[in-house]
Amino acid sequence: MTNNNFPIRAIKSYVRRSGRLTPGQKKALEQYWPLYGIDFQTALLETCKLMGEYDALKLEIGIGNGDALISMAQNDPQSMYLGVEVHEPGVGRCLADIHQQGLPNVRLIRHDAIEVLQHMLPPRSLDRVFLFFPDPWHKKRHHKRRIVNARFRDLLAVLLKPGGCLHMASDWQEYAEYMAAELLSDSRYMNKGDTRGYAQRPDYRPVTRFETRGLKLGHGVWDLIFELKPDREP
Ligand SMILES: C[S@@+](CC[C@H](N)C(=O)[O-])C[C@H]1O[C@@H](n2cnc3c(N)ncnc32)[C@H](O)[C@@H]1O
Repeated sequence: MTNNNFPIRAIKSYVRRSGRLTPGQKKALEQYWPLYGIDFQTALLETCKLMGEYDALKLEIGIGNGDALISMAQNDPQSMYLGVEVHEPGVGRCLADIHQQGLPNVRLIRHDAIEVLQHMLPPRSLDRVFLFFPDPWHKKRHHKRRIVNARFRDLLAVLLKPGGCLHMASDWQEYAEYMAAELLSDSRYMNKGDTRGYAQRPDYRPVTRFETRGLKLGHGVWDLIFELKPDREP
């Protein structure tokens, strides 16, 4: 069991890709990880220290190369951004960009986001959680790998501040419908979109590389924003 009382998760929402590091990514991991990286630990992160004078803590899960994370952090210097990603080349790319842009308000964790949620983040610590274009795991037999599920909803119901938001986006309609159904059926969350659960893309979410690829293939894009309701009276 963990500090959030959820059992260790066995089925992963990713498969380790063997992607080679470019020399630039390797250098960034060696030189910049000590500056902007936070090692995974099975103890709570001292978020007060991390936050310093920042107003809000915002978490992006599955940052890919970090394009959205970098853009959001640039445009929102009052917030501290935490990015979680398992794919090492993506983390290397993002570290290089953080350093090049001189961004003081971004930190990265290179680990399974579910375990980060289970172990490292204190209850009621997150103002926003972003999940942009998560792997849809198209085949029915792989649906169990989808990151959005009851356990994900339960974890975020503990870790988000009341009034905090989960913002998801997908370019795969069936996955967008699935995510909408998951969240619409959960009375702890308030839908900020239309009756189907879809919202307009807010200006803070840039169009990502992954999204651009989907758009070229003729896919639509669906944003979903759900707010954690205030705690109920006992
Ligand atoms: C389809 S890509 C989208 C990347 C990026 N959000 C974008 O829009 O371009 C999904 C990403 O999520 C990462 N991922 C999947 N499951 C994860 C997990 N449990 N923890 C951390 N990263 C994860 C994958 O490694 C991959 O980079």
